Amino acid sequence: MQNRMEKRLLINYVIGIICAVLLFSCAEKKPKYIIGVSQCSEDIWRNWQNSEMKMEANFHDNVELRFASALDNSERQIQQIDSLVDSGIQLLIVAPNQLSSVSPAIDRAYDKGIPVIVFERKTDSQKYTAFVSADNYEMGRLMGEYIVSRLGGKGKVMEVLGLKGSSPADERHKGFHDAIATFPQIEVVAELQGDWTEESGFESVKTWLNQHPSPQIDCVFGHNDRMAIGARKAFSPLTAHLSPLFCGIDGLPGKDGGIQQVRDSLLSASYIYPTRGDQLLQLALDILDGKPYPKETMLTSALVTPENAKVLSMETDEIVRQTEKLDLLHEKASGYLQQLDTQRTITYLAIGVIGLLLVTLVLFYLYHLGKESIRRERVVNNLWNMDVTPTPPVVEEHPEEPEAPAEETAQKEEEKIKDEEPLFIVQFKKVVEANLANSDISVDDLAAGMNLSRVQLYRKVKAITGSTPVELLRTARLNRGYQLLLKSDKTVSEVAYEIGFSAPSYFTKCFKDEFGISPSNL
Ligand code: FRU
Repeated sequence: MQNRMEKRLLINYVIGIICAVLLFSCAEKKPKYIIGVSQCSEDIWRNWQNSEMKMEANFHDNVELRFASALDNSERQIQQIDSLVDSGIQLLIVAPNQLSSVSPAIDRAYDKGIPVIVFERKTDSQKYTAFVSADNYEMGRLMGEYIVSRLGGKGKVMEVLGLKGSSPADERHKGFHDAIATFPQIEVVAELQGDWTEESGFESVKTWLNQHPSPQIDCVFGHNDRMAIGARKAFSPLTAHLSPLFCGIDGLPGKDGGIQQVRDSLLSASYIYPTRGDQLLQLALDILDGKPYPKETMLTSALVTPENAKVLSMETDEIVRQTEKLDLLHEKASGYLQQLDTQRTITYLAIGVIGLLLVTLVLFYLYHLGKESIRRERVVNNLWNMDVTPTPPVVEEHPEEPEAPAEETAQKEEEKIKDEEPLFIVQFKKVVEANLANSDISVDDLAAGMNLSRVQLYRKVKAITGSTPVELLRTARLNRGYQLLLKSDKTVSEVAYEIGFSAPSYFTKCFKDEFGISPSNL
């Protein structure tokens, strides 16, 4: 019984280990933080910012970024925010396309307990966790002052406005007009509506130029560099007699960035509108980690002019080069990590398979062990408890049978022993029962009763029953004792002597070992 429990425990133990190994090996590394980034547009500025966020995320192995771009469409951005929230993001970073139209979706996210970082473009709602931007009003104002100084306080200006309803457009416009308000000789001759894209700058200016055959324009202020470049393209057929200044905002680093465009004299000035994706992500992580964070962050920026464009572009080019190297390094490291991951998975799988094989083997072994012990138990039970009168197997003679190979002979021999088992057991039972009361009986006596040598008897009894002749004799005595105690009025001592025990105390001990209770309690 105890043995069987131990076996079961062993099986459970082995299966437990294997399951744990398999579970561990299959468990995917779950990202700790999922951050949704809802961009209003897709352009060089957004791409730059997104790659900064990705780069920063590379330094934290617990961040997953989910990007969505609304392509300048507020309705689309509302849907994208809702589905980002539904996808299970833990924090939302959002640049709202327009001031009010996207607010309901942001409010919904915030009301669900998702921290919201609004960046660069504002919403008219107060439901946000933090706000990050450069000062768009100040940018417009400083650009106004710069243009005034470049024009010597006198000239005709064209303004190409950013998307209607987006906060940077309103604020840049206001700042610009406040700056030129005190210069009556600065005249804004056209305020053209753009939507932040280069095409909108080109188209709106081209249309205006078509309507004004002999224009007099000294400066074009585009609310961003792309629209300023678009405007420049629209003016290009007129360059022979008209070459106004083209000023924009964004001042991005890199090949197609505003810094390079000022350096190459495509633009007369720009204003750095910092992207700082790295800072945004760091802020997001601080919020998620429960660390203190500023509710409002104002990013610093600077004017890009022909005087500083060279130095700035040298510096930013260097940053771009280093960033590209870092990117490459990260790619390589990710490759190695992936390889490592695959190897780890293979190792765990191999351990799992080996483990399963081992379990199967153990189970197979235990099954056979169990089968064998049940067979032996049955034999012993038959021997002492049942009145078996087996018919001896009919031994057929096959005189002409050819000699079988050795392996077959051994198998036949074994089968023969099995066939003969019941007969042998009955004979042995008779001998044992005849000597049950004889406390002096020895194995030699039992063997003699069976016409076998002591060794032969021992081997045969052990092979069939798994027990020794002495053990069987004792079991038989105890079983008889049990019956006698149950069915007769005899005392423990009387029973002990009757079944061949020379000392009642020894009988009591053996009885307890066998049946788990004292004979006197029966
Ligand atoms: C990028 C951009 C910038 C501009 C900003 C205004 O999508 O159009 O060029 O400065 O957005 O929000």
